[in-house]
Amino acid sequence: MAKIEPGRVAVTGAAGKLGRAVVAHLRASGWDVLSVDRVRPASGGGEFLVVDLTDYGQVLEVLTGRVDEHVGPVDAVVHLAAIPAPGLLPNSATFANNAPASWNVFNAARAAGIRNVVWASSETVLGLPFDMPPPYVPVDEEYRVRPETTYSLVKALEEEMAHHLCRWDPELKMIGLRFSNVMDPEDYASFPSFDADPALRKWNLWGYIDARDGAQAVRRALEHDATGVDVFIVANADTVMSRASAELVAECYPGVEVRKELGRNETLLSIDKARRILGYEPEHSWRNES
Ligand SMILES: NC(=O)c1ccc[n+]([C@@H]2O[C@H](COP(=O)([O-])OP(=O)(O)OC[C@H]3O[C@@H](n4cnc5c(N)ncnc54)[C@H](O)[C@@H]3O)[C@@H](O)[C@H]2O)c1
Repeated sequence: MAKIEPGRVAVTGAAGKLGRAVVAHLRASGWDVLSVDRVRPASGGGEFLVVDLTDYGQVLEVLTGRVDEHVGPVDAVVHLAAIPAPGLLPNSATFANNAPASWNVFNAARAAGIRNVVWASSETVLGLPFDMPPPYVPVDEEYRVRPETTYSLVKALEEEMAHHLCRWDPELKMIGLRFSNVMDPEDYASFPSFDADPALRKWNLWGYIDARDGAQAVRRALEHDATGVDVFIVANADTVMSRASAELVAECYPGVEVRKELGRNETLLSIDKARRILGYEPEHSWRNES
């Protein structure tokens, strides 16, 4: 696998749950990280800028390396900033933040000549909360997106936008990572309680992503030497449940085609493509950490 060497990367949403893990991992992996967010991270060092990504002028200054005291070219962008779920704000407010922020980052990257863009898409584009059952399991990247909320609609628009931006510029690489539900180690204490009721977490097929494994996927996407757009589901290799995956599907999604023989707790959000193309391999199961 050809690899891009670490350079200078702007990380948006750096103060957030995933952003904190991504910044720590990229810095430890030799990347020179410019952290960007509209709020300061509670902890963690490194270069940081308060930026409102809905203001194109600010984003352009940052990505063209023109901000006083932060001058210098940026080689790559990891765009994680967003209102991170449906229902946190009214739909129009979610749209009014997330869609312009992503357009501004993508367009300013183009204007700055940055050809390496990785951003947070979401598992929601697979059809969460699966009121309409998934077409088959494990779900993968092979069927058309099914956003069911305004939050997810913006993620689907980002994927579509990336497709066309890469068509316009054949040297551009844009990788969308469809993260599952992000977890920190302290979240694992509640996992055993999920077992009592399979309906509690059926909305995302009992998936999760450890923030540190999410960060690994970001680094691998950043260092992946390619052009064009691609999207990858990023989840852990197992589910949040102790009960067998095949049993959960039979109980909650009867009649849905099971396309492979499932390991006992195997994820129903397929990570085969990320494994195959990015070399991604989760390292932090909740089973070993709680
Ligand atoms: N948390 C999850 O379970 C989950 C699942 C799938 C995808 N994602 C995606 O991953 C990304 C990171 O999610 P997270 O869980 O770390 O969320 P988070 O809320 O912890 O972090 C998001 C950060 O983005 C910043 N931000 C939002 N709008 C901004 C703006 N206009 N300008 C500057 N900063 C802005 C916020 O201040 C926040 O620090 C998001 O794009 C989210 O949609 C999250």
